Amino acid sequence: MDTPENINNRRTFAIISHPDAGKTTLTEKFLLFGGAIQTAGAVKSNKIRKSATSDFMEIEKQRGISVATSVMNFEYKDHSVNLLDTPGHKDFAEDTYRTLTAVDSVILVIDCVKGVEEQTEKLMNVCRMRNTPVIIFINKLDREGRNPFELLDELEEKLNIKVRPLSWPISMGSTFKGVYNLYNDSLNLFTPNTKANDEHVINTKDINDPVLDKRLGKYVEQLREDVDLIQGVYDPFDRHTYQSGDVAPVFFGSAINNFGVKELLDTFIDIAPPPGPRETNTREVKPDEPKFTGFVFKIHANLDPKHRDRIAFLRICSGKFERGKFFHHVRLGKELRFNSPATFMAQSKSIIDEAYPGDVIGLYDTGNFKIGDTLTEGEDMTFKGIPRFSPEIFKELINKDPMKSKQLEKGIRQLTDEGVAQLFTQNDGNRKIVGTVGELQFEVIQYRLMNEYGASCSFVPLSVYKACWITAKNPRDLEEFTRYKSSQLAYDKDGNPVYLADSQWMLDQIIQNNPGITFHFLSDSIDEMAV
Ligand code: G4P
Repeated sequence: MDTPENINNRRTFAIISHPDAGKTTLTEKFLLFGGAIQTAGAVKSNKIRKSATSDFMEIEKQRGISVATSVMNFEYKDHSVNLLDTPGHKDFAEDTYRTLTAVDSVILVIDCVKGVEEQTEKLMNVCRMRNTPVIIFINKLDREGRNPFELLDELEEKLNIKVRPLSWPISMGSTFKGVYNLYNDSLNLFTPNTKANDEHVINTKDINDPVLDKRLGKYVEQLREDVDLIQGVYDPFDRHTYQSGDVAPVFFGSAINNFGVKELLDTFIDIAPPPGPRETNTREVKPDEPKFTGFVFKIHANLDPKHRDRIAFLRICSGKFERGKFFHHVRLGKELRFNSPATFMAQSKSIIDEAYPGDVIGLYDTGNFKIGDTLTEGEDMTFKGIPRFSPEIFKELINKDPMKSKQLEKGIRQLTDEGVAQLFTQNDGNRKIVGTVGELQFEVIQYRLMNEYGASCSFVPLSVYKACWITAKNPRDLEEFTRYKSSQLAYDKDGNPVYLADSQWMLDQIIQNNPGITFHFLSDSIDEMAV
């Protein structure tokens, strides 16, 4: 059985950001602190960047963007930290959204020059759906950024969350002096390219400590004014409002200079929640329950191009996972055991014997898993909240080589099981429509179908605006709607009817004219929410 310490000292989280805000850099610095990698400043070098620890797919190397989400585990201050990396490129956003269902909290990186960007808003929508606690790191303070108060206002307004600064910058850009830590009343003086464990921290009594006058000179006045204003405007920091996802603590720093990163990590370890309870379709599962449960949130194929293996990433929710023990695959009603469950550090993996709530492990899969599958010790239940998001771009899949139809069929089914894209069919499966959140996905599919399955395909763009899963209280309403709208109707892989709207205007009309039908923009959710 699991011990409470094993649960309470685990932190499972993701770093998210709009591309270029500094997620990769911050990830690398965290890994340095955790002793998981040794090369500092690796991000600056293109050579190393190409094989950056969190990028491992061939296509990623070619394009230099992170396609896949990898899981990195490290120990820090008696805590076992699981950092789930997420692709920054917006075309792979769905992968990121799903990864967010497997974490207990999130660190959001913002560029102090650019402020809140498009992808930041979308990612925060997903966090808010699940009340995921968020810490915000405002990065690149070594640049002339925007006024910090203005940035905080923008965060509150655009991300629809209350914020509470826990550190405060003293000037910015070329005159950047450092940050004052409001959480533990200390001054952290800025020195560029700080090495791990080498921050210049001076403990102070409070903001009026004379040591600040000595160290900051003319900048101290502004700092005191700012802190005064913060204390007047923002409620004192409260761990509960952070953990309930209502208030996001904010830190300032510079990831590339490894500045403010340690205090971010220290505070994160201290305040971020350990694994909590999770909802299933029958009941709530608590992490300290003795019996093992977990769910698959990501499937990744062919990490090693020489082998055709798939890896299902499983988040453990309760009990203890043990190597070689039989577990119950709820959807298939099958008992399965895993002889080489693995933890990952990008390309390098190690076999583990046991794992605990909050941990993410990789299971070798021969086609048994789909995203969202639940494993238990026998109980029939399914974890909720692993949604499929409504795709934004739709194309018809055309088989270019009739001799390879079987390979194409198998390939597209497996790739969509992995969550690379979503597959909809019409005409009894003969017409295949692929929906994604980004153009690049189609290139990935084409490349992988050819390289992994030997199937050649092309895509024809369709003027579909949105896919909406449809349900109705009265089955007759649904029957009538599907008959009447048959040309715009398709089926997802599980056979659920999906309405393909060609414009927002049309969708509004259809929704208005069909009160008996409910339109869902997430496939497994009653909440109607477009991300
Ligand atoms: P991402 O994963 O969110 O996409 O961002 P990434 O860490 O790759 O950082 C994007 C760019 O921002 C990189 O520069 C990186 O060096 C830079 N950067 C990260 N943190 C800071 C910081 O604190 N201050 C400043 N001034 N820059 C920072 P690049 O030129 O795009 O790439 P590279 O050639 O340095 O690898």
